[in-house]
Amino acid sequence: MFSLLLGVLYILTPTVWGDISQRASLANNLASNGSGSPYSMNVTDCPGYTLGSLQESDTGLTAHLTLAGPACNAFGLDISDLTIEVTYQSQSTLHVKVYDTANQQFTIPESVIERPAAPTTSYAGNSDLIFNYDTTPFAFWITRRSDPGAMPLFDTRTSSLPPTPIPPFNASDASTAFDGFPLVFEDQYLQVASALPYGTNIYGLGEVVASSGFRRDIGTNGGVGTIQTHWSLGVSDPIDQNLYGSHPIYIEHRYNSTTGKASASGVLLLSSAGSDIFLQTPPNSKVSLIEYRMIGGILDFYFFSGPSDAEVIAQYGSVIGYPMWQPAWGFGFHLCRWGYHNISDDRENVAQMRAAGIPLEVQWNDIDLYHAYRDFTTDPVSFPGDEVREFIQELAANHQHYIPIVDAAIAVTRNSTDVYDPFTRGVEEDVWIKNPDGSLYIAEVWPGYTVFPDWFSENMLSVWTDSLKNWSDMGVEFSGIWLDMNEPSTFCSYSCGTGANFSSVGPLTDVSSVVIGYPECYNETLWGPSGNMTVNGTSTYSCATNSTTMTMIEKRGVGAGSEEGVDLNNPPYAIHNAVGSLNQHSLASNATYSGGYVDLDVHNMFGLMEEKATHLAIQSILPEKRPFLISRSTFPSAGKWTGHWLGDNFSKWQYLYLNIQGVLQFQIYQIPMVGADTCGFNGNTDEELCNRWMQLSAFTPFYRNHNTNGALPQEPYRWDSVANASRIAIAARYAMLPYWYTLFANSSMAGIPPVRALFYEFPDEPELFNVDKQWLVGSDILVTPVLTPGASTVEGILPGRGSVIWRDWYTHAAVNATSGGNTILDAPISHINVHIRDNSALLLHQEPGYTIYETREGAYSLLVSLNAAGTAFGTAYVDDGISFPPGPSRSLTFQAAEGTLKIDSNGEYEIVQILETITVLGVQKPTQVAIQGSPVEGWTYKEATEELVVSNASVGLNGQTILVWR
Ligand SMILES: *[C@@H]1O[C@H](CO)[C@@H](O)[C@H](O)[C@H]1NC(C)=O
Ligand SMILES: *[C@@H]1O[C@H](CO)[C@@H](O)[C@H](O)[C@H]1NC(C)=O
Ligand SMILES: *[C@@H]1O[C@H](CO)[C@@H](O)[C@H](O)[C@H]1NC(C)=O
Ligand SMILES: *[C@@H]1O[C@H](CO)[C@@H](O)[C@H](O)[C@H]1NC(C)=O
Repeated sequence: MFSLLLGVLYILTPTVWGDISQRASLANNLASNGSGSPYSMNVTDCPGYTLGSLQESDTGLTAHLTLAGPACNAFGLDISDLTIEVTYQSQSTLHVKVYDTANQQFTIPESVIERPAAPTTSYAGNSDLIFNYDTTPFAFWITRRSDPGAMPLFDTRTSSLPPTPIPPFNASDASTAFDGFPLVFEDQYLQVASALPYGTNIYGLGEVVASSGFRRDIGTNGGVGTIQTHWSLGVSDPIDQNLYGSHPIYIEHRYNSTTGKASASGVLLLSSAGSDIFLQTPPNSKVSLIEYRMIGGILDFYFFSGPSDAEVIAQYGSVIGYPMWQPAWGFGFHLCRWGYHNISDDRENVAQMRAAGIPLEVQWNDIDLYHAYRDFTTDPVSFPGDEVREFIQELAANHQHYIPIVDAAIAVTRNSTDVYDPFTRGVEEDVWIKNPDGSLYIAEVWPGYTVFPDWFSENMLSVWTDSLKNWSDMGVEFSGIWLDMNEPSTFCSYSCGTGANFSSVGPLTDVSSVVIGYPECYNETLWGPSGNMTVNGTSTYSCATNSTTMTMIEKRGVGAGSEEGVDLNNPPYAIHNAVGSLNQHSLASNATYSGGYVDLDVHNMFGLMEEKATHLAIQSILPEKRPFLISRSTFPSAGKWTGHWLGDNFSKWQYLYLNIQGVLQFQIYQIPMVGADTCGFNGNTDEELCNRWMQLSAFTPFYRNHNTNGALPQEPYRWDSVANASRIAIAARYAMLPYWYTLFANSSMAGIPPVRALFYEFPDEPELFNVDKQWLVGSDILVTPVLTPGASTVEGILPGRGSVIWRDWYTHAAVNATSGGNTILDAPISHINVHIRDNSALLLHQEPGYTIYETREGAYSLLVSLNAAGTAFGTAYVDDGISFPPGPSRSLTFQAAEGTLKIDSNGEYEIVQILETITVLGVQKPTQVAIQGSPVEGWTYKEATEELVVSNASVGLNGQTILVWR
């Protein structure tokens, strides 16, 4: 709901710069007077390592690495004795772990991320990936068994890398200079670089809103590349900066223009350390490179061989864990805003949505719900517990749901008469994060002074579970939980409340200001000043705004500081944190957790640990049901516990487009339940933008309209055209639920991404590698949204270079597509282009209902789209949509060829709904149609779309069905 806004950032910038220049001048002083600094700040002289004591085994090898010369102590102290372990984890996954033999460096505990068991079979002889190494200086490279002569997938040899030194990445920022690529392993600085093919295609490494789009910028001939910083930060979706989550995993989609073939591989550096990851192509270099610079931890690499992009993602999932099972209702439409001031506002919404005939599955509340902005409370005046309970039970009676917000910060009681059990109980059970001296770490968030949960504390889960349970018992009978501010976010630096008088700072009061800015496309000349800016009927179709302009913030984090000794607050290597100091707007890096962990090491995992605890808590409060969670800060394996929304975006056309890369990124990160604040969060939206956005988000996994406090209302019923657009898009979404549900089952069972970039399915078509204005739902549904104002057409590519028949979702007409280039498609307002791939068979709901429950109660239909050879194939996974662990299920397969459709059904789950209608596209007009050998009456045929419709098929789905047309 809230994070630091760009505007706020500008205000704070002078302080940030002050902080950094102070550090820079300190560094200069140390350098010039030669006194005290133990660090050389120059990796050129780092000696690298020598490999020895090699032991090979069935599953891989281990060896020692010893420092090959005098320590360089660049940004920390060199560690002289390392161990390397190489494990062939499976045929497609290779694990390379380099750690300090003394085990002093931070390593992610198994209690936070469970790692795969050691292999019981030897893959050393048949793995797709081969580990190669040099002993002196130690370097390694990874090749494919099937293509040993090709450039390695990963290669740390200095001889393979560009010559050094390389000029600064960014002329004003000396810390970006590439001044050498030896392996560096220090207590506060680790560095490793790998050569990559010149200008290759890299995806992932976020969370980021990248100006380059979904494909990361690797630069060409010294041009700008990427510095991706990993340090969780609650900022409002800035471009090209670190933000809420940290995912050091990338896919390389490598294309060989000689053969015209591509293959994908992936690399995970499983580290929670603050880091910069550089993607760069130096001047006159024949290769590009990736360089990791981390301020702690160990080198824990996993390599994935693909060779398809979806396989890379699935292989990654097999290491960190597949995504959680989603309840079917989670795919419904969610409605939220900051600024539903009381329970009547909630009721009004539910009634208005119903009156407008726009399906509403889940009503949400933001922090308006709370008493004095305290978690696990309700305001006694505006949200009395009994009324909240009554409201939620009314929703439940209509098969609708309720989700409240939970912020990460817990209010500190203000005086001796102030009663707030979650805090007091937590003090008694010792579950709050501490300062290094053992006192409570006191931040400042909405309720005033606060503490933060220490997820490493052994009593944390029970305190957290009881807090949620008591809240539910008090009336907030939630179906799911929304986790916010969990980077974690705070409004002050360091433990600002330590020693303070807690009664002096109360809840924030000035949070209700009205958002006065015009919507992006508002024409004051045409519609008058803001006083006339009524919502209903405001048409802004003639927007002239150049929505492609990027509003970038300047990079900060300039230069490398240098301090004496190990400094938790300001490590010698300054990562490019968007707000400079590691201690701004978030828990300070010296904050201390149970077990002696410090925030510097575990910062990026705070959100993950909260998600795990909350997931487990919900499981015990709502037993045997699938939890539903949406959270802001994420880390590898978070998808096991939560979904994600793309944070505090803006009501701007640019962000409508930027949604798409966010949804695609989180498919790589194995957090597939993801979506944006539809119609935009910050700022005022308008009718046209909201119209397009409600339609776009209907084809992304998590579908929620959410708005900031004080902005113009943007519920879909506020404008007739948006209501209409929403009904159309939601009808399509709900019809496709069995398809979405199947995609998510395949994600939870095998890690296969539900939403795909076009090139995942068409890997050898380079014109697709940069496409991020369209996406595929599964392999068979292509979405081409309008992303600009005033449009009546949209350009989109229909992949397959003419080999695929793409048919319109609504009319079933085949598109006359341009091969390998853009096709112009009609896109009047309230219409989103959706196309069905050929050779597909989609199980659908025949009649979308008002809720997911009603939709699922109704009959099924089947849509078969034949290719030129007359074949089609599809599958469906069906179960009760709610049980956890999942109960009995049924797998359906649909296969068509030579005028016959065969439906096979396997499993224990009994499907009571019948398959009412079967539609086959691409059929020559038949003379006879039969099911199970008996002629069918009343089938129809549409010449224009070559469409056979058997509308009274009425077959069960628990056995085999054969449909024949002749
Ligand atoms: C790093 O050391 C090398 C070799 O000693 C030297 O040439 C180079 O100028 C140094 N770079 C910096 C930034 O001090
Ligand atoms: C592309 O493939 C050709 C033929 O197999 C091979 O000779 C060449 O090395 C490959 N190029 C790259 C960059 O791997
Ligand atoms: C103690 O704190 C509560 C909660 O903020 C407040 O309502 C009350 O006025 C405070 N009492 C005193 C004596 O300050
Ligand atoms: C606003 O509307 C006026 C009157 O139609 C028009 O002349 C002007 O160009 C419009 N401004 C923008 C920014 O579209």
